[in-house]
Amino acid sequence: MKKVEAIIKPFKLDEVREALTEVGITGMTVTEVKGFGRQKGHTEIYRGAEYAVDFLPKIKLELVLPDALVEQAVETIIQAAHSGKIGDGKIFVSNIEQAIRIRTGERDDAAV
Ligand SMILES: Nc1ncnc2c1ncn2[C@@H]1O[C@H](COP(=O)(O)OP(=O)(O)OP(=O)(O)O)[C@@H](O)[C@H]1O
Ligand SMILES: [Mg+2]
Repeated sequence: MKKVEAIIKPFKLDEVREALTEVGITGMTVTEVKGFGRQKGHTEIYRGAEYAVDFLPKIKLELVLPDALVEQAVETIIQAAHSGKIGDGKIFVSNIEQAIRIRTGERDDAAV
C-alpha cells in the first residue's frame, strides 16, 4: 500500500475529487493547509528584490491505496489539478505499512 499526498489549489478540489471518484477511489482525507513552494508564497517586488510575503492556502488530499491503483490516482490528480500556473502543487508518494478498518478488523488491501 502507498499513501498519495497531494497539495493542490483549493479551487481545484471539486474537480480532483470528481475525477478520483470516477476512477474508483473509495476514500480520502482532505485538510485545509497553508504552505509555500519555491516562490515562497506570493512574492512582491520591493527595491528590485523579491520578498516572501505569506503562506498561501492550499488543500491537502491523502489517499491510501493498493499499489496497483497508485499510478492511475497520480495521473488523475495531475490532470485534474493542473492549471499550468505556478503553485499548482505537488504529489508525494510514500509506503504504508498497515491499514485496518476499525469496524470489521479487516487489514491492508481489504481495509482501504
Ligand atoms: N518540498 C515541499 N515539501 C512540502 N510541501 C511542499 C513542498 N513544495 C511545495 N509544497 C507544498 O505545495 C504547495 C504548492 O507548491 P508549488 O506548486 O508552489 O511548488 P513549486 O515547487 O513552487 O512549483 P511551481 O514552480 O509550479 O509553483 C506549497 O504551498 C506547499 O504547501
Ligand atoms: Mg510555487
